[in-house]
Amino acid sequence: MPILTRPETMERITNKALAEAFIAEQIADIRAQVGDKKVLLALSGGVDSSVVAALLIKAIGKQLVCVHVNHGLLRKGEPEQVIRVFKDEMDANLVYVDAVDRFLDKLAGVADPETKRKIIGGEFIEVFAEEARKLDGIEFLAQGTIWPDILESEHGIKAHHNAGGLPDDLDFELVEPVRILFKDEVRVVGEALGLPHGMVYRQPFPGPGLGVRCLGAITRDRLEAVRESDAILREEFAKAGLEGKVWQYFTAIPDFKSVGIKDGKRCDEWPCILRAVNTVDAMSATVEPVPFELLSHITERITNEVKGVNRVLFDLTPKPTGTIEWE
Ligand code: XMP
Repeated sequence: MPILTRPETMERITNKALAEAFIAEQIADIRAQVGDKKVLLALSGGVDSSVVAALLIKAIGKQLVCVHVNHGLLRKGEPEQVIRVFKDEMDANLVYVDAVDRFLDKLAGVADPETKRKIIGGEFIEVFAEEARKLDGIEFLAQGTIWPDILESEHGIKAHHNAGGLPDDLDFELVEPVRILFKDEVRVVGEALGLPHGMVYRQPFPGPGLGVRCLGAITRDRLEAVRESDAILREEFAKAGLEGKVWQYFTAIPDFKSVGIKDGKRCDEWPCILRAVNTVDAMSATVEPVPFELLSHITERITNEVKGVNRVLFDLTPKPTGTIEWE
């Protein structure tokens, strides 16, 4: 049986040799637990699920079925990266589900942030459950649960998303190979497994994705503006050497317009809000002092390249009083 509790004496995994020892141990445990049965995994492309996927592919190859649900709220290039890394490079058994229309149709006209979150979470479970029912002979469900998830649920800080609230007819045994690891250890293990550095060290990204950054009721055109502006911000931060240094940075687009001028003509378009913050635990945060020249360059690119945006604003608010996300 896999170890379910982190031993107090466990050495922190900080280097390749320790990571490799952990990987070897997990591979043996996974094989012992699963035998020749099939395992299902919801692969979002986030650090934890990606590391679990890579571990399981090493341990049991095609007995793992990864399901990647594209809900339309992912960042630019993310679904493509999941397919490239796992299907093309690691030869994984990957089911790609294009659920974009389904999610956006359900979200149409819904402005309340918590209702949006509930719809996204609920729909995700439904889509995943439907895919699971299409597959034969699955007995296990793999999850990227990590040690802080267990600690936080024990202390009542957050409800552990264990088994993702799947319906009762989908009664799988759990496989949680990174359960006893802290986040920094998951990243070291991910690199040792050969996952791309950018995937393993990427900034936190909320489950509801760009859905909580397309403020108010989501529309496809404004969602595209969030996605494109976010891609420009990330590209420029990477070029300026800020990637991996700033804890979280993103754009948000509110659902109001203001007047501006483009090509000598009056235009009513959206503003784009930039946010860049540093924190240790996300409970409080400070604003990254982004150089003014970089902000000006990003503004020029976003107002020129992103359809429907004529202004860029930089959010100067620490947490508190502002939360990190706008909704
Ligand atoms: P706030 O906005 O509460 O964000 O200061 C703190 C951290 O949590 C992330 N966040 C979420 N993550 N589902 C998630 O998985 C959510 O609904 C959600 N809302 C906020 C946020 O990106 C930040 O890192």
